[in-house]
Amino acid sequence: MSDVHFNKNESSKLKLFTPGPVDVPDRVLQAMAMANDTHRSKPYSEMHKLAVEGLQKVLFTKNECLLYTTSASGVMEACVRNLIKEDEKALFLSIGAFGDRWYEIGVTNGKNSIKSKIEWGKAVTPELLKEELSKQNYDIVCLQSNETSTGVYNPLEELIPIIKESEALVCVDATSSLAGIKLEVDRLDIDVCLASVQKCLALPPGLAICSVSSNALEKTKEVKNRGLYLDFLSIQEKNKIYQTPNTPPIPQIRGLVVQLDYILNQEGLEKRFERHKDLGKRTREWAKDMGFEMFSAKGYESDTVSTMKNTIGIDFEKMVSNLITKGYRIVNGYGSLKNKTFRIGHMGEITKEELDNMLVILSGVIEELK
Ligand SMILES: Cc1ncc(COP(=O)(O)O)c(C=O)c1O
Repeated sequence: MSDVHFNKNESSKLKLFTPGPVDVPDRVLQAMAMANDTHRSKPYSEMHKLAVEGLQKVLFTKNECLLYTTSASGVMEACVRNLIKEDEKALFLSIGAFGDRWYEIGVTNGKNSIKSKIEWGKAVTPELLKEELSKQNYDIVCLQSNETSTGVYNPLEELIPIIKESEALVCVDATSSLAGIKLEVDRLDIDVCLASVQKCLALPPGLAICSVSSNALEKTKEVKNRGLYLDFLSIQEKNKIYQTPNTPPIPQIRGLVVQLDYILNQEGLEKRFERHKDLGKRTREWAKDMGFEMFSAKGYESDTVSTMKNTIGIDFEKMVSNLITKGYRIVNGYGSLKNKTFRIGHMGEITKEELDNMLVILSGVIEELK
């Protein structure tokens, strides 16, 4: 079994094909190493404004975009604390580990939370959603765009209009698809769309972002005991002057601004989405050639992370560790899916050529293990 260790004098030498955190480009790391002014200074506000305006473009929204000094889970908790009143009910449409986590966040915050039971590997279908919504009235519905544990992408274009018809607020966790798979917040009328930055945005972890609709902000005013640190209203108040209530991770925000500029003005958003589509397609073709079945239901496969079943009876732990000796990291299945599935992340800045090179080497590792 191969092993790698922390070395304070050296950066990691592994090329990451993981579903986040992912490799961060040098230009971003260099920008993050630059000295900054304080978070109450004019240069900071100018930088914050660029971040917010760039995010609005990536999310296709005029809604306010907020910055959180947390990972995505912090904004998932913010949705629960800010948008669910004591006498209200929230529906969590869980199709995997991260859907389960959002439901747990609801429960542990003492909110009236109901989880839909959907078999892992499947997506939420319009039929299933209509059935859930016919059982009782919900005030808020939370779901993932891309479920990173199962490699499933939900058909949001069909689902969100159905949720909106029920008059519930809708929160979408787009953590592992934002800036990789197109999602138009305003056209779909998504109330909160959230993500952390260590996935398709290819930044180091430590920052999360979200868009919040005016309806969601109005609703927040009616919710008691929202706490302080995650409060939409106090963060929005400061956001108006392009600041945050607390000290934010200033280097991270500089990195975000640099990366947004690259995505919007150099690669181009549509090209970025196309590249992720190609990466997803290529990975699925490779999986089929190798005899792996996808864990994700046909037609709902993610273009940012592929989850494969153990259809050829291979030791996934050995496969992952043997690949490390060749300089690449992929990952075993998530939680209860460990050894039953494995995952290849193809998000962020990965090119088709880099993916092809890794897949050739992974094929060799698999042949040796057979
Ligand atoms: C779909 C999804 N939601 C939420 C999370 C939690 O994100 P974070 O670790 O940034 O809190 C993850 C992390 O992998 C994820 O993939």
